[in-house]
Amino acid sequence: MLFKSLVMAALLAAQATATIYYAGVAESGGEFGVYSSSKTPGTGLPGTFGVDYKFINESAIDVYVDQNKVNLFRVAFLLERMCPVATGLGATFNETHYGFFADAIDYITTTKGAYAILDPHNYMRYNDPSQQPSTGSIIGDTTDSTAATTAQFAEFWGELARRLKDNEKVIFGLNNEPHDMDTNLILANDQAAINAIRAAGANQLIIAPGNGYTGGHSWTQDYAGNSPASSAVLGNLTDPANNTAFDIHEYLDSDFSGGHANCSQSGPTNLAPLTAWLKSNSFKAMITEFGGSNSTGCAGYITELANYMAQNEEYIGWTAWAAGPLWGTNSPCCGDGNAWGSLEPGSVAADGSPGFYTTVWERDIQPLVPRVLQWSGVSSVQGGGLTMKM
Ligand SMILES: *[C@@H]1O[C@H](CO)[C@@H](O)[C@H](O)[C@H]1NC(C)=O
Ligand SMILES: *[C@@H]1O[C@H](CO)[C@@H](O)[C@H](O)[C@H]1NC(C)=O
Ligand SMILES: *[C@@H]1O[C@H](CO)[C@@H](O)[C@H](O)[C@H]1NC(C)=O
Ligand SMILES: *[C@@H]1O[C@H](CO)[C@@H](O)[C@H](O)[C@H]1NC(C)=O
Ligand SMILES: *[C@@H]1O[C@H](CO)[C@@H](O)[C@H](O)[C@H]1NC(C)=O
Ligand SMILES: *[C@@H]1O[C@H](CO)[C@@H](O)[C@H](O)[C@H]1NC(C)=O
Repeated sequence: MLFKSLVMAALLAAQATATIYYAGVAESGGEFGVYSSSKTPGTGLPGTFGVDYKFINESAIDVYVDQNKVNLFRVAFLLERMCPVATGLGATFNETHYGFFADAIDYITTTKGAYAILDPHNYMRYNDPSQQPSTGSIIGDTTDSTAATTAQFAEFWGELARRLKDNEKVIFGLNNEPHDMDTNLILANDQAAINAIRAAGANQLIIAPGNGYTGGHSWTQDYAGNSPASSAVLGNLTDPANNTAFDIHEYLDSDFSGGHANCSQSGPTNLAPLTAWLKSNSFKAMITEFGGSNSTGCAGYITELANYMAQNEEYIGWTAWAAGPLWGTNSPCCGDGNAWGSLEPGSVAADGSPGFYTTVWERDIQPLVPRVLQWSGVSSVQGGGLTMKM
């Protein structure tokens, strides 16, 4: 015991300046099965669990935690499955669906001891995910009579938080990638959700998005569809528990979409204005989506981004996009439409050659996972419980 604590003390001293507490991968699949080329509302709802959509493959979580020593997964789900459109967004859940989701979260957090971001993958829209991110009514849009209200969004979060308030290892991700809406409405929705989560007695980390698909490079920019700038509005967000960080996405291809195989955007350069804003407002951030292809140019850009996060105390964690049980040979990002596989362990490309798990995660991202991460205690902007997983 003494030896162990001396080793730990030495490790912690060596890591005194490290600020990444959480690192891992997005689990995408719970949001699958609703795409309709004809924009038919209701397509794939509720869908068949395990066939049309699925949250995780437990074996993949085992590989990431036991072999890769990551401590964070971001688990996507759809609000329209958790709260069926017939009963509306709010505190009434589909209990069968909630059970499937809770099983995945429980496996990650209780069985494996890692942290899980709950990710309603809804672009701050609700009622029609048939062609995300374009379809569905903007939550809180009072000019749209079919839109769910800000109060309903808060009721949903209050109920989910009430159910999970005793699980220290969850992180509440308020919503995936709001875009093309008034940034003041994002502030109102984020704030209502934070208040409801705290009123439910849950004190875990919350991560709140901004506008423009919550892009880091555009955080301080004001343009049509991304107005006012997130930086002009979101500094007013408050949390009674002081445990909210911003949820940032940052891709490295020419148009920041994550659609292209070639990397050409410098994370450090593009994030500098956001970092300065975070610093001056005493906020932290997590980058929950970034990625690159296996093209040789991307490795340097990914490394530069991860090192930048590690060197700037404003950043407390990250998840790469994406693993997930249903990608098959398809590529979640950065493939120019090619089927080069995903970050799911065992993934292969359409031609049978190694997929992105081998050619991107193992080659480029795994070396960037900090050896010391948080493995115990409540999820927090302050981190804590730092240890090296044996
Ligand atoms: C789950 O992952 C394991 C290990 O990679 C793999 O062998 C298995 O086929 C996967 N199961 C499903 C249903 O995809
Ligand atoms: C609730 O979820 C289950 C499991 O997916 C599904 O069979 C059922 O139809 C859903 N109910 C509603 C009202 O969506
Ligand atoms: C809060 O909102 C006001 C009014 O919109 C704005 O002038 C101010 O800059 C905001 N403060 C922060 C810290 O974002
Ligand atoms: C949150 O921070 C404010 C300002 O630093 C402080 O006054 C307050 O006591 C803190 N609240 C909690 C719950 O830590
Ligand atoms: C790919 O990105 C590099 C910078 O990493 C740039 O020099 C090059 O021109 C790009 N290639 C294409 C085809 O866009
Ligand atoms: C990326 O992976 C795919 C699938 O294995 C392969 O066809 C392609 O040649 C790889 N690209 C590079 C630049 O290695």
